[in-house]
Amino acid sequence: MSPEIIEKIRTLKKQRKAVILAHNYQPGPIQDIADFTGDSLGLSIEAAKTDAEVIVFCGVRFMAETAAVLSPDKTVLLPAQDAGCPMADMIDATQLRQLKAQYPGALVVCYVNSTAEVKALSDYCCTSSNALQLVRSLPEDRDIIFVPDKNLGGFVAEKTGRPLILWPGYCSTHVCILPEDVIMARREHPAAVVLAHPECTPQVRAAADELLSTGQMLKFAKASSAQEFIIATEKGILHTLRKENPDKRFYAVSQKAVCPNMKKITLEKVVWALEDMQYQITVPASIRAEAKKALDRMLEVTP
Ligand code: 13P
Ligand code: SF4
Repeated sequence: MSPEIIEKIRTLKKQRKAVILAHNYQPGPIQDIADFTGDSLGLSIEAAKTDAEVIVFCGVRFMAETAAVLSPDKTVLLPAQDAGCPMADMIDATQLRQLKAQYPGALVVCYVNSTAEVKALSDYCCTSSNALQLVRSLPEDRDIIFVPDKNLGGFVAEKTGRPLILWPGYCSTHVCILPEDVIMARREHPAAVVLAHPECTPQVRAAADELLSTGQMLKFAKASSAQEFIIATEKGILHTLRKENPDKRFYAVSQKAVCPNMKKITLEKVVWALEDMQYQITVPASIRAEAKKALDRMLEVTP
């Protein structure tokens, strides 16, 4: 990592009164220069409470959009314009309207990995950290539509016993992790604890020891007396796991578990973002107001 570029980012950040937020899947050097790193819930909370004037969001578009919804008076920058999330694009507003029409009276819970328009049509938002808590808080006598991730939704249905109406979306990175990968990794590291993200397929979830969001994985690894861990989620998280636990060993379950969109952000792009104030992410006022309700309800359940 060049010291000049780090210094440049530091200077520009001061000039712009900016804060840098980075998701746990970001490349190591981006996580290292960030003011805050975290999972989707942690970053949403940080975006809602920051007093910085500019938020540089090192993540993907739906995360920057969420920050823009929660902090409308701030300038939100996404350093890579094309950093999207394929799962978030698997359901649009028209499709959700049609689904709602099929199940009148059902409550709609949308995973934060969704567009602002989809959030605006939902009653509640959730992240992988609080999905169980949120669904458990909903009235027993109501049907629940869960979009867009069928895998996170399946995990929530299993754990809560609530029969969710699922949309067939999925994370194209997590579905690359196969149950055979877990079996092979266990064979190589028999003492290791397997931590998997609930975006993994049911077969991978069944082969894991713990199902956790990225933020929960970081807490679990720190607190655990185990010395070795097999990590079944996007590989970027290994950077922080290793940094925070230098005496423990972490193994990626599969070298294929890489989200190409998360890797579009580079230090140079962070410099350009701050120099040129690009790429600004905004959400139209009418969508913003409705999307904020769904996000606020989530933050009320899991403050
Ligand atoms: P969390 O960091 O909230 O677990 O989310 C994972 C993810 O896929 C974000 O895109
Ligand atoms: Fe989307 Fe999956 Fe990448 Fe997260 S890891 S941004 S859910 S494609």
